[in-house]
Amino acid sequence: MNFEKQIEKRRTFGIISHPDAGKTTLTEKLLLFGGAIQEAGAVKNNKIKKTATSDFMEIERQRGISVATSVLAFIYKDKKINILDTPGHKDFAEDTFRTLTAVDSVIVVIDVAKGVEEQTEKLVEVCRMRKIPIIVFINKLDREGKDAFDLLDEVEQKLGLSVTPLSFPIGMGYDFKGIYNIYEKNINLFSGDSKKNIEETIAFDDVQSSALEGVIGEKAAKTLREDLELIDGVYPKFNKEKYLASEQQPVFFGSALNNFGVRELLDCFIEIAPSPRPKKAEERIVVANEKDFTGFVFKIHANMDPKHRDRLAFIKIVSGTFERNKPYLHVRSNKRLKFSSPNAFFAEKKEIVDISYPGDIVGLHDTGHFKIGDTLTEGEELHYKGIPSFSPEHFRYINNADPMKSKPLYKGIDQLMDEGVAQLFTLDMNGRKIIGTVGALQFEVIQYRLEHEYGAKCTYENFPVFKACWVDPDDKNNEEFKEFKRVKQKFLAKDKQGQLVFLADSTFSLQMTQQKYPSVKLHFTSEFE
Ligand code: G4P
Repeated sequence: MNFEKQIEKRRTFGIISHPDAGKTTLTEKLLLFGGAIQEAGAVKNNKIKKTATSDFMEIERQRGISVATSVLAFIYKDKKINILDTPGHKDFAEDTFRTLTAVDSVIVVIDVAKGVEEQTEKLVEVCRMRKIPIIVFINKLDREGKDAFDLLDEVEQKLGLSVTPLSFPIGMGYDFKGIYNIYEKNINLFSGDSKKNIEETIAFDDVQSSALEGVIGEKAAKTLREDLELIDGVYPKFNKEKYLASEQQPVFFGSALNNFGVRELLDCFIEIAPSPRPKKAEERIVVANEKDFTGFVFKIHANMDPKHRDRLAFIKIVSGTFERNKPYLHVRSNKRLKFSSPNAFFAEKKEIVDISYPGDIVGLHDTGHFKIGDTLTEGEELHYKGIPSFSPEHFRYINNADPMKSKPLYKGIDQLMDEGVAQLFTLDMNGRKIIGTVGALQFEVIQYRLEHEYGAKCTYENFPVFKACWVDPDDKNNEEFKEFKRVKQKFLAKDKQGQLVFLADSTFSLQMTQQKYPSVKLHFTSEFE
């Protein structure tokens, strides 16, 4: 198969949702359709249970599972589907943000009863910022939930999307009869039998036909006709270009648990979802069908076995082909690196692969060369943009608890930060180190891993910070910036890249600082224009 065809057949995407909306269940059903697994329940739940805050065995077990399920690939109707797994637990939201830099589109799962939830809002905001094409799947239609039109309104308002339904429920919960597929113009009757993989589908391109009553009954037929009329009047027609430009988001309804509406979603997905998209580097935009290989690291996973200290770096291939044993330029270190056993992912297995194409993810064994965001090329000096750091929510001083082990401690901290477990800030004033995390759970993970993987011990000390703001002065030489630096000295630090950060201790002090030094811009992410 030629190179262009290989690119065209790839669909690399992520499924995002608030925990419990049904991401894992949907992933599993998609794999079932792809024949990648034989039975439900085969995909291990990659959730860190809410009660697991101090259960380290659980954390370790989850880390093991999450390597296996980091990328789930399968073939469906001649398309190569790569699902990039995103952790549902909010303490690992940074991981999800990073994974979003490697997807070409996303499916957002929403619980019909709960509607749009907090985590969904945050994740969709990132997708919108990055203009990632989005398909919405409203799940759990077998249960009583919100009215479908109200939900569509909620999705538009809370997520700032512009939706158009491509399927629509006939009834809900107890009365759930099935789904009208607007895209394919057919009706899927719901049997409620979760063991049945293929539900009954009846072609129905004219809902005005009196045969509709015979299929779904009089009352449901009347409601469906009214609903479809309303949809026709209110929502724009589906427009693929707008979807690809992230200006319109198609919506599907279904029940992942009952495997209902999932085939429709998948069939439409492979047709409309983008193959690997061009990606912005600092120097230029790179297109998938360029001959030369380029790619970037979006995730690093430490080996769980302490005897093998290597890590697995996940590379998204942006252009060209990645070949085993070919030397590639690691741009940041300006070194040539060769990989004798790159891993490809298939269903839940990983295997050594000789050649991979744009859209694919390869896992490279790494002994400490890689950092998240690093670029690999065939020689070009290229820097892929766009793995910003977001302000952490929790901050603590990290102290060395064993003076004999300061070297392994700092090495451990360094490597864990490269993996993206948390962020490190070094105070300008006295060089003390501060760890910033999205959730409190990470502090325990870091402490545990430092001890078990590096033989080092740390303690924490509270450091009351409200937000880390990346400092962006209009002019580095003006008096205002100099005064800002002098007055706020106690609160200034450098991030791991050496960027200046202001650690605001309260909303109030942040506002006051902004008012007092208007020419010094403060950003909540490390990436700004
Ligand atoms: P997540 O990955 O987004 O966190 O959600 P997950 O798929 O684990 O689903 C969360 C719960 O919702 C699970 O139940 C799952 O069975 C249920 N669920 C998923 N899809 C549907 C659906 O279409 N209809 C209904 N009624 N339930 C659905 P659980 O009891 O928390 O877990 P489990 O014991 O079933 O694994």
